[in-house]
Amino acid sequence: MSQDGAIIGRLGDVPLYGPEGFEGMRRAGRLSAMALDMLAGEVRPGVTTLTLDRLAFEFAGDHGARPANVGYQGYQNTLCTSINHVVCHGIPAERALREGDILNIDITLIVDGWHGDTSRMYAVGEISRKAERLIEVTYESLARGIAAARPGNTTGDIGAAIQSYAERGRTSVVRDFVGHGVGRVYHDAPDIPHFGEPGSGIRLLPGMIFTIEPMINLGRPDVKILADGWTAVTRDRSLSAQCEHSIGITETGCEIFTLSPAGLFKPALGDARP
Ligand code: MF3
Ligand code: CO
Ligand code: CO
Repeated sequence: MSQDGAIIGRLGDVPLYGPEGFEGMRRAGRLSAMALDMLAGEVRPGVTTLTLDRLAFEFAGDHGARPANVGYQGYQNTLCTSINHVVCHGIPAERALREGDILNIDITLIVDGWHGDTSRMYAVGEISRKAERLIEVTYESLARGIAAARPGNTTGDIGAAIQSYAERGRTSVVRDFVGHGVGRVYHDAPDIPHFGEPGSGIRLLPGMIFTIEPMINLGRPDVKILADGWTAVTRDRSLSAQCEHSIGITETGCEIFTLSPAGLFKPALGDARP
């Protein structure tokens, strides 16, 4: 990718993007967020995750986009659909959603070569108080990570902000999967751990584009991969939640590329409760 004209510099193996990259990511990020907005109207008891996957695949085609997951290292679906104790990379299947499930949907749409990578949580009907609390902690931990994403800070400052918030809330941070550089390439440098020491890692510079996507568990942080080679679950079968934005470092902070146009990124938890 060294011949990529959208890359205006590098810090080691980390590409730095200029206005063309930010504009490309704005368009891709917005479309991915729109797909997740569309799915918000489809998540309910009885719907299968494969139905959601088909809707997302059609949405991509209708909008001139390509789903990055299809064909990625042999993966065959548009979405990852991770239910309850599934940490990430759940494969859509003929499994009907049930009242009380919590679901992460992760999508990456490619628009003009740019990858918009985002995920959020969905509540299926009424969910337990502990599930609600986990989701709240997960969203706030992403918000703390984003608040730390600014020039002069390091990748470790992002991880430390996420970890300290999550652990104060008596939840744990998954170590096995990290945020990643994103842009013309789906998974690029740098790694963005969701844990770590303040000041560690690489220094953030304007033009860096990456995801932050904390996976937070109610129990222990340990995960295992199921026999399908993809599905990551908590070893103790405790509930897990995740949310993800693609962001770009600016002169003063960062720009979030995957904000929900409909304002649906954070589910209105508890609204159904009397
Ligand atoms: N979107 C996921 C991420 O946030 C990666 C999914 S890869 C797949 O990095 F093959 F499982 F779809
Ligand atoms: Co990602
Ligand atoms: Co993702």
